[in-house]
Amino acid sequence: MILTRQFEEVLPLLQRGEIGAIPTETVYGLAGNALNGEAVAKIFEAKNRPHFDPLICHVGSIEQIAKYTLDFPDILKKLAEKYWPGPLTLLLPKNSLLPDLVTSGSSLVAFRIPAHEITRKLLNALDFPLAAPSANPFGYISPTRAEHVAEQLGDRISFILDGGPCAVGIESTIVGLEEDEVFIYRQGGISQEQISALTGPLNQKLSLEHPELLRGAPSSPGLLKSHYAPRKPLYLGQIEKMLPHFDPRRIGVLTYRRLVKGVDRERQLMLSIQGDLREAATRLFECMRELDKREDVDFILAEKVPSFGLGLGINDRLQRAAVKD
Ligand code: TXA
Ligand code: MG
Repeated sequence: MILTRQFEEVLPLLQRGEIGAIPTETVYGLAGNALNGEAVAKIFEAKNRPHFDPLICHVGSIEQIAKYTLDFPDILKKLAEKYWPGPLTLLLPKNSLLPDLVTSGSSLVAFRIPAHEITRKLLNALDFPLAAPSANPFGYISPTRAEHVAEQLGDRISFILDGGPCAVGIESTIVGLEEDEVFIYRQGGISQEQISALTGPLNQKLSLEHPELLRGAPSSPGLLKSHYAPRKPLYLGQIEKMLPHFDPRRIGVLTYRRLVKGVDRERQLMLSIQGDLREAATRLFECMRELDKREDVDFILAEKVPSFGLGLGINDRLQRAAVKD
């Protein structure tokens, strides 16, 4: 496995169908040639990802998208022009150039232009889009540093392009149209308010993170439960109410911006002392990882952050990470 900061080194690897990690402003992606069915299959395999969960395609410019789509509705184009490059993914009708495996058989394909300099240079030097889900084993916390990828997927991929820590820290917001109405399918790095400022009122849908649920196939509660999850049980709620049920010497605490009484300071992490949701998003996955790794922690108790702006995306990840009762 090659670990490098030079995109030129990974170009030939991607060109011959190999897969590896690339930095984006949201999280690291596990990338391969989206037009090459074998490369796409390798991505699913390395992540252990079920084939019903489609991949996002990454390109360097809006012009490239026209090659692979049938249409780019005006309202989505307006969002693209305002927020790309950036943490926004748009669902567009695909043509037949992209293998069906990329979209898990859907007639829509997810596209985004990431805002990370090295990766944009890489994308602009390639003549194909990069399919890239987050570079974590399926169900585990997404990686926001090259080291996170190396720890978990290092032996399954050809390279890691190290672009430093991710600036946004949670995944992109996924937006699409249904009968001309705008829907948000996943909250993320562009806030709901930023979207509705351009589109007007929005609709929300059960996230397509688990499209099999939408299609009415048998649900997979086990998979659902473990999405974005640490290995240790994470409980989300009012920390003071949960505390009496645990041995305070064995828990880790994750708060927005405060300390909790009755738990050692060193087992408490705050997402943002300043109360800054941007900082909280950047630190979220890293803090979960840290508590997950600590040997003196068996359970994680966490609380929600304020639910506006990036807070909606953060709370969504916390909820998915949490044990459901
Ligand atoms: O920020 C991000 O979006 C990161 C970076 C690497 O770009 N990528 C990412 O990919 O989060 P992933 O695979 O972890 O999440 C992709 C999700 C799928 O689970 C699904 O919910 C949605 O995007 N998706 C992708 N293609 C879709 C499609 N054709 N139709 C509906 N949903 C789709
Ligand atoms: Mg993911």
